[in-house]
Amino acid sequence: MSITEQLESLRDDGLAAIAAADSLPLLDAVRVEYLGKKGSLTGILRGLGALPSEERPMAGKVSNDVRVALEAALEVRNATLASAAMEARIGADAVDVTLPGRARPVGSRHLIEQIRVEVVDIFLGLGYKIAEGPEVELDYYNFTALNQPPDHPARSLQDTFYVRDLSGDEAVVEGESDVLLRTHTSPVQMRVMEGRKPPIYILAPGKVYRRDVADPSHLPQFTQIEGLVVDEGITFGDLKGTLDHVCKAIFGPDRRTRFRPHFFPFTEPSAEVDVSCGICSGAGCRFCKGTGWLEILGCGMVDPNVFGYAGIDPERFSGFAFGMGVERIAALKYNIPDLRMLLEGDMRFLRQF
Ligand code: PHE
Repeated sequence: MSITEQLESLRDDGLAAIAAADSLPLLDAVRVEYLGKKGSLTGILRGLGALPSEERPMAGKVSNDVRVALEAALEVRNATLASAAMEARIGADAVDVTLPGRARPVGSRHLIEQIRVEVVDIFLGLGYKIAEGPEVELDYYNFTALNQPPDHPARSLQDTFYVRDLSGDEAVVEGESDVLLRTHTSPVQMRVMEGRKPPIYILAPGKVYRRDVADPSHLPQFTQIEGLVVDEGITFGDLKGTLDHVCKAIFGPDRRTRFRPHFFPFTEPSAEVDVSCGICSGAGCRFCKGTGWLEILGCGMVDPNVFGYAGIDPERFSGFAFGMGVERIAALKYNIPDLRMLLEGDMRFLRQF
């Protein structure tokens, strides 16, 4: 076989191998086999020097043509295989837009927290500032300074969780502890009055604790919002106007409110405020126990004795205070028959709000 024939047969084999290579790695193997340093064509080219000189130009030209032809075929085949590989990859990675998305549930505020924020916003709008006090409280602030002498019935152990025994840190002796879980947010009143001079317009939301068994209308831990105003010339009319505005803002203009005389040791006169029942609109039903009204807060004019403990001159200043139960407001606003539902964490119930 002449050198030209050898080269042409090598070219034909090479072109056939290129056409047959069906992946990029196989194609590269073909390239190395023919054009690599130790490839077939390279081998022939190396041998050209041994040819008789009259054959050399022709052999040189043909081998160059073969190389060009193989390189061109490699390039075309490479492009074809590369784009096929790309297509395959795209096909495999494709996002299936028909697949249902993964739900990412978004949390929301618990109803108790919603009401707390709502009420706080109403009072911030009236210019009140937020105040805080400890949940583990001294007997002095929870009772004594609020004009509740040691024999007052509200101090009875049925109502109060005591934390520390006066005689040491041993077992709590009933009625002899000076540290307790606050039974209301009213101790914040005294802490605020001790710390600053009037005018005082504060709101104190927070948790309170009572030794009650949970039932439809009682919880051993619940949330109160305390309010205290101390200024010159504050009257019961200011108290009524403020709370009436707030009740309408919370419950809507259709619900009526009424003030009922009541007693609290730390306010005089005192009242409880009722809201008309949202279920029967006042006609009387099971929810309101037939009365048409639901109690939502206690309030009154700050007792001069309390000003005495706080070192505020009752001749110059007067004030009012109120305390409302957030869970009760939630229940009355949304007609929830049992306060315990607020704490059970049943999502089917809580999602409604
Ligand atoms: N602290 C009272 C209670 O828990 C409510 C109250 C607050 C009443 C302020 C009058 C003034 O029942």
